[in-house]
Amino acid sequence: MNLLEEIRQKAKAINQRIVLPEGTEERTIQAADQVLGDGLARIILLGAPEEIMKEAKKFNLKHIEKATLVDPNKHEKMDQYINLMVELRKHKGLTVDEASKLIRDPLYLGTLMIKNGDADGEVAGAMNATGDVLRPAFQYVKTLPGITVVSGAFIMILKEKEFGNGGIIIFADCAVHPDPTESELAEIAVATAKTTKAIAGFEPRIAMLSFSTKGSAKHEMVDKVVNATRIAREMAPELKIDGELQADAAIIESIGRKKAPGSEIAGNANVLIFPSLDTGNIAYKLVQRMAHAEAIGPVLQGMAAPINDLSRGCSVSDIVNLIAITANQAVGK
Ligand code: ACO
Repeated sequence: MNLLEEIRQKAKAINQRIVLPEGTEERTIQAADQVLGDGLARIILLGAPEEIMKEAKKFNLKHIEKATLVDPNKHEKMDQYINLMVELRKHKGLTVDEASKLIRDPLYLGTLMIKNGDADGEVAGAMNATGDVLRPAFQYVKTLPGITVVSGAFIMILKEKEFGNGGIIIFADCAVHPDPTESELAEIAVATAKTTKAIAGFEPRIAMLSFSTKGSAKHEMVDKVVNATRIAREMAPELKIDGELQADAAIIESIGRKKAPGSEIAGNANVLIFPSLDTGNIAYKLVQRMAHAEAIGPVLQGMAAPINDLSRGCSVSDIVNLIAITANQAVGK
């Protein structure tokens, strides 16, 4: 069974409640129909019910009636959510008036449903920019205990099976946090270990990447990775992690042995942590295009409940896959 099929099977077994704020968007509705038809998750669609049903009819969808439809302009828990918003953001000066307006925005409503325990995870972004999907999530769902920064991992499925875990290797952060400090980089490593176990299903062997291996270069950018490795070990002593390592020393056994003798990670890493968003984002796109790898993600990690952001160019099957991944994370959390 391939990884995506395994993720779908796991999602089926756990039957989580996933909220889709872009409930009237046509790819989202078609994806919701497939998810409901295949029994991958319970679905909550946000949007005017008559508009949702009109779209469902247009595509001749058979399963949408199994979804819970929630109208952001009138729903029974509106006052409860407004109170919760004010409670959580009064230190930022949020008033009841402002909260009453924000709660009508499906991207806010989705995160409040999660915060209130009415949904387990969210998938959005087919028609909204990353920042607009993430901001309400950062503000209301917030991060896991011990984690202050949300980041994004990609599961890279390579044609070359000798790399990573039988050709599967996890890259992070490739999507969210532009310039992490050393302790944020350590958190990204710890969060990626969690994602690796929950989604890819194998034990992480983490390489903290740099342009230097074990002191071969001296620079403050190298120090950042060395310190991040130390902090990650303190945060999670059970983790198999090493750094600083160059990319070749991390993934090629003969080079790892030469450049980092004695390292249990060098040469056989299956998780690569990049020192910045620049490097992570560029690397995943190059590997995806030049090595014809499949890139699944970004899987957002570090949030107290799973919220995942789609690319606006996504297909119906991208949405279905991300719903299944989100359901897996919801249980993993
Ligand atoms: N983790 C946790 N919380 C965060 C993070 C983070 N990474 N970033 C910001 N926050 C919090 C802030 O602390 C703040 O909380 P507060 O209101 O309680 O004080 C809140 O979120 C808003 O912070 P801002 O700095 O105003 O956040 P902003 O909305 O400007 O930026 C964003 C956040 C959109 C994620 C920004 O960091 C960004 O644009 N990142 C790059 C995203 C991107 O373009 N990725 C590449 C493309 S994706 C791809 O190729 C797959």
